[in-house]
Amino acid sequence: MSKIVVVGGTGLIGSKVVAKLSEHGHLAVAASPNTGVNTLTGEGLAEVLIGAATVLDVSNSPSFADDDVMRFFTTATTNILTAAKAAGVGHYVALSVVGAERMLDSGYMRAKVAQEDLILASSLPYSIVRATQFFEFARSIADSATIDGVVRLPNAPMQPMAAEDVATAVARTTAGEPLNRTIEVGGPERFGLDEFVRTGLAFHGDLRTVVADPEAPYFGGRPTAETLVPGADATLFTTRFEEWLATTPAPAGR
Ligand SMILES: NC(=O)c1ccc[n+]([C@@H]2O[C@H](COP(=O)([O-])OP(=O)(O)OC[C@H]3O[C@@H](n4cnc5c(N)ncnc54)[C@H](OP(=O)(O)O)[C@@H]3O)[C@@H](O)[C@H]2O)c1
Repeated sequence: MSKIVVVGGTGLIGSKVVAKLSEHGHLAVAASPNTGVNTLTGEGLAEVLIGAATVLDVSNSPSFADDDVMRFFTTATTNILTAAKAAGVGHYVALSVVGAERMLDSGYMRAKVAQEDLILASSLPYSIVRATQFFEFARSIADSATIDGVVRLPNAPMQPMAAEDVATAVARTTAGEPLNRTIEVGGPERFGLDEFVRTGLAFHGDLRTVVADPEAPYFGGRPTAETLVPGADATLFTTRFEEWLATTPAPAGR
């Protein structure tokens, strides 16, 4: 039984990955502030990595402000890489975002690219999985783009996917040998960013108007026709947005 430490293992993706790895006979250990491991301060990091064959980082910054998110991903990644090397970890896996390097006008995407660069510059065998936007993220996108009750978003195409499928891809990669490259995963259908959010809000009775506005920012960036869509080599999962919506309760507060 191999020990796999899942940094961010209590989060949306992390908790699903821990469950999937455990079902397949791995000793998957969730590491996050809620389990006594803090990658910013280093608390508990060396201890949890003792005996680990693999470390997966699916943590996320509590704040998306430009400086905060950059500090989070660079500090956390530097600390995890250092601790992983000291512990003799043989495979470092991280979850990133499709198109991050094409949207460097976004502070969040700059931080994800900085995270990837630190992994590439380390001598550890690695795999990076880049995923498209999660279906679960539609409301957060709307909230970040709402001014005076109206959601304004560019209509850039994107190919979102279910968090469950992201977790499947990440769990498979984590359980495998290091790829020493970046792979992409996405969903089956293309939507305009505005259309995706409009569909998600309407399904759960959120009455906000969603306006397609090519000048509107998406997390500080201005995605074009190519920015958010996965490349030809991406692995595409089959769960459709409408199908997922029909089986997903409205978020709390609706
Ligand atoms: N949202 C999208 O559409 C999208 C698309 C592609 C890729 N991604 C990537 O997917 C990853 C996971 O996202 P998610 O939505 O699953 O995240 P999430 O649900 O917000 O979970 C965040 C996790 O990070 C942990 N964490 C926060 N601060 C930490 C710290 N100082 N030390 C250790 N762990 C810490 C949290 O632990 P506690 O529970 O203890 O607070 C939690 O387990 C992110 O890296 C994101 O960039 C997201």
